[in-house]
Amino acid sequence: MNGDVKNIYLIGFMGAGKSSVARKLAQQIGAKRIEMDQLIEEQEGMPITQIFERHGEEYFRNLETELLRSFLGQENLVVSCGGGSVLRDENTGLMKKEGAIVLLTATPETIYERVKDNKNRPILNGNMNVEYIRGLMEKRRERYEAVADYTVATDGKRIPQICEEIIALIKQ
Ligand code: S3P
Repeated sequence: MNGDVKNIYLIGFMGAGKSSVARKLAQQIGAKRIEMDQLIEEQEGMPITQIFERHGEEYFRNLETELLRSFLGQENLVVSCGGGSVLRDENTGLMKKEGAIVLLTATPETIYERVKDNKNRPILNGNMNVEYIRGLMEKRRERYEAVADYTVATDGKRIPQICEEIIALIKQ
């Protein structure tokens, strides 16, 4: 990876494309792909929805922080971050310490199309509609934008194009 950028943290709303982009990007630049949600599910032995149901959101958020701490000192990672993982200052501090934060964006309509059939997103369960997504996205927008080093809009773009844009930005 170029210059000071040791790791890339992909952030953004649920359905922004973080997982798909991380897969392709890591392959392309020869980095290790990390999927935060998946690692947490494996560690806890249950899906995210069940972690929320059994232990509550705060517990899940603590797991995110612990996981981010465990990346310190590592290099050459492309991390697909949980959509809410940037809400804590400690977490974004950890990301920025040794990495670049890349925000992926999409309109609420695009997000809805991408996530509507998924049942493993407790934040949207029971609220799976464009208006709810728009509202939550609005609430989080300022935070996402404030912590991002780079931003890439994903609407109407294919994964390879998004990866090319990220690579060009990081190389600058
Ligand atoms: C969440 C996003 C999810 C997952 C959890 C909470 C959020 O990750 O971490 O359901 O608060 O936005 P994705 O962004 O990968 O869906």
